[in-house]
Amino acid sequence: MVRNSSKTSHSSERHSLADLGLVVASSAAIVDNELGKKELPPLDDERFPVSFPLLSPEGSHARLELIYAALNIIRLASGPADYLANLTLQGFELGTISTVIRLHVLEYIPIGGTASFEELSSKTGIEKQLLTRLIRYSISAGFLSEQPPGHVRHNSVSSACLRDPNTHDHNLWNINCATPASLKLFESLQLDPTGTDGAKTGFSIAMAGPGKPLGTIWDYHANHPDVARQFQNYMASMPSMYVYDSRHLTQGFDWTQVKTIVDMGGSGGHFSMAIYDSYPHVKAAVQDIGDTVTTARAKLPPKYHKAITIEEHDFFQPQKTVADCYILRFILHNWSDDKVRDIIRNLTPALRPGVWVLVMDHVLPTEAHSVHPLTERIIRNMDITMLGLMAGRERTEEDYKRLLQGVDPRLELRSSICPVGSALTLLEFQVIGSSDNC
Ligand SMILES: C[S@@+](CC[C@H](N)C(=O)[O-])C[C@H]1O[C@@H](n2cnc3c(N)ncnc32)[C@H](O)[C@@H]1O
Repeated sequence: MVRNSSKTSHSSERHSLADLGLVVASSAAIVDNELGKKELPPLDDERFPVSFPLLSPEGSHARLELIYAALNIIRLASGPADYLANLTLQGFELGTISTVIRLHVLEYIPIGGTASFEELSSKTGIEKQLLTRLIRYSISAGFLSEQPPGHVRHNSVSSACLRDPNTHDHNLWNINCATPASLKLFESLQLDPTGTDGAKTGFSIAMAGPGKPLGTIWDYHANHPDVARQFQNYMASMPSMYVYDSRHLTQGFDWTQVKTIVDMGGSGGHFSMAIYDSYPHVKAAVQDIGDTVTTARAKLPPKYHKAITIEEHDFFQPQKTVADCYILRFILHNWSDDKVRDIIRNLTPALRPGVWVLVMDHVLPTEAHSVHPLTERIIRNMDITMLGLMAGRERTEEDYKRLLQGVDPRLELRSSICPVGSALTLLEFQVIGSSDNC
């Protein structure tokens, strides 16, 4: 069935393989044309940038179309039985790639060079035929390459994992923590059918040791500093993903109107650093809790020392740092509505008239075709990921207004922008009223 929309036209409206192929061809030409101007190595070359280069809005739209049409071709050309079976057997694909990473195969292959299966077998201690099977399956899944036969070299994906430690940790955390959590979603709903208790999530059940009490993801991180550090690197790697590129949002707000910001739950401070890079007049306080603070202080590059301070602050305690702007990026979606109200209630003592509260999160669409279907898929994936990890959720714009204004009616939503290609929306709330009100 073809559905019409006056708002956007995209590849989900075309159901013949040939039509989808035309979308692929025309979108790929736009993307290729923009990439061609950037003097990059070939797309699957091991030197290709870890982050796909940021394109113009037209290029970003074409890229969404290209990926979405290609995904639909895979689904439709596979047919129901094959598509579903491939989907449900992906666990071993993940298991194989994570095994190859954990065996340090990536480190044994030099960038620009090769390593033979014999060499890799002797370095990893895994029998040659067995290791060859694991590596060749990884190659089939688009991770590493074999060239010439018997010799393994990096492709763009495996080399990204080697070149960028944050990308490495991001994906290992996903495989070791998010994947087991996803498989306990059903069990978590038996314990908490409302999906609001952060200590009864898929993550809580998957990660609890035998006979150990269930806890939240934050309890787990407090007891497992290595995993917490991996998670912090994960957060630092997020802006490398096209849909979370900091530039989508640093370009979305007029930072010249603020001098001081507080980056609440700011992890290692990567977003504040991105703001400072473009707006060096801004002074930022990055707040977080526990070991994250210690690591963030130790890792803050010297060029930011004068502009960025790292503070220990629990956002469930009253906010003491006064600033022109408070950033809540990837924060509120971690929590249930009651907890979000607590976070905002604890922020209000610091809110003077004119102050900005910037919420940067995925915003659920309320109307069909209001966002590209690939963006909607990413947003809905994150909605359920938040449920499974933290009893969190994504919300609509109206949900955010209701929650924030329910706590502090002075918070007026001035604007809401989701730049093309971004999965995050920037919701700009500003405190209205005269100074007598505060
Ligand atoms: C999903 S991460 C988002 C990090 C960062 N804002 C970003 O955009 O990448 C959530 C952050 O909230 C922090 N956090 C969790 N509970 C907190 C609390 N009670 N007070 C302050 N920070 C907290 C975590 O340590 C983590 O760094």
